[in-house]
Amino acid sequence: MVVGGCGHVGLPLGIVLASKGLFVTSYDINETVVAQVNAGRMPFDEPGAGDLLRRVLDSGHFTASDDPSVVSDAEHVVVVIGTPVDEHLNPDPSAVVSAIANISKHFRDGQHLVLRSTIYPGVTQLVEDLMTAQGLSIDVSFCPERIAEGKALEELESLPQIISGRSPKSLGRARSLFSNLTNNLIETVPEEAELAKLFTNTWRYIKFATANQFFMIANDYGLDFERIRHAITSDYPRAADMPGPGFAAGPCLFKDTMQLAAFNNNNFALGHASMLVNEGLPLYLVSRLERQYDLKKMTVGILGMAFKGESDDTRSSLSYKLRRILEFKAHRVICADSNVKHDPRLVSERVLLDESDIIIIGTPHARYRKLAVSKPVIDVWNTQGNGTKV
Ligand SMILES: NC(=O)c1ccc[n+]([C@@H]2O[C@H](COP(=O)([O-])OP(=O)(O)OC[C@H]3O[C@@H](n4cnc5c(N)ncnc54)[C@H](O)[C@@H]3O)[C@@H](O)[C@H]2O)c1
Repeated sequence: MVVGGCGHVGLPLGIVLASKGLFVTSYDINETVVAQVNAGRMPFDEPGAGDLLRRVLDSGHFTASDDPSVVSDAEHVVVVIGTPVDEHLNPDPSAVVSAIANISKHFRDGQHLVLRSTIYPGVTQLVEDLMTAQGLSIDVSFCPERIAEGKALEELESLPQIISGRSPKSLGRARSLFSNLTNNLIETVPEEAELAKLFTNTWRYIKFATANQFFMIANDYGLDFERIRHAITSDYPRAADMPGPGFAAGPCLFKDTMQLAAFNNNNFALGHASMLVNEGLPLYLVSRLERQYDLKKMTVGILGMAFKGESDDTRSSLSYKLRRILEFKAHRVICADSNVKHDPRLVSERVLLDESDIIIIGTPHARYRKLAVSKPVIDVWNTQGNGTKV
């Protein structure tokens, strides 16, 4: 049973476990997506997931439901609801706890409750306390999800699973559930696993910020960072993982860095500096363009609105921040992304290419590698292989 089971993480997990022969119910409060999933349609793009969903529905191993009472039938209850930060960048440590409290009347003694959302440190303990306070004898474990969207099906089985539980029994039950995915299980105590997940995402966010800052330094000096990065990383293993510049956004890295900052009493200079650099990249690009072009007379096109290549997910995408800035600065801003279906303000990619005076690539979709246009293309991602200089 997966709570939040029709989301980007819950649904792939549910259908992969169902494909291993387990009987899985995805419980979700969103009735529309529940109906869509039961009809065999994925609510978002995830390679390979549509076919697998239809297979496990047909085999009778998988179903979705918006009825919380399905919780009482489950041996394992995996909670993977969203855990965003609010508009003031504060995490809500009670989000997961309240979601569980709301359905706790359906729990019964002897069940295994797995927290899988990325949680604020200490939430596992809060959930254990909640179960005790409600007089329930439930084994609680925290087993964070580490897949990347777009690679969910492959990574659910290829990545090691970090599993944690306070008692040998809860750890043993986590072991038995996740050994359906892999034998590569890494065992920790819950507090280590909570920090492991936040450190993982924050580490990535800081690396992207470093690359973005290097890009700005080189660019302000009149140099192309991509040429420098090539020189640094070529046949030099110690720097091989230096990323290129780009919009570091999406539903995880930024908010998990901010969760970690809040956890450390906002004493996280490196995390906050990374946030300023990554979130500042759209402003930096616009300020560079203002020096070269009279934006007030131009139509600027943003090509790519999803937060990453080949995705349809626009959550926390910096293309939208770029659009807001340009709406102040340019004569007209038009945006396109044929992956993204839910935004009525988007124009077609053809219209964007025809009507823009200047084009900014907001998302490195592979189809943008070769654009047949003779207009200036701003490509901080180096999607087109012409360098990153702006
Ligand atoms: N998206 C990723 O790539 C990714 C990767 C690793 C970990 N995570 C973490 O996994 C968690 C889920 O992220 P997501 O991207 O799948 O979010 P999501 O918004 O795509 O999915 C969450 C789902 O939970 C449902 N939901 C919300 N409250 C509920 C409740 N009280 N009861 C039942 N269902 C409820 C929503 O309707 C939604 O379908 C977050 O903590 C996130 O940080 C996400």
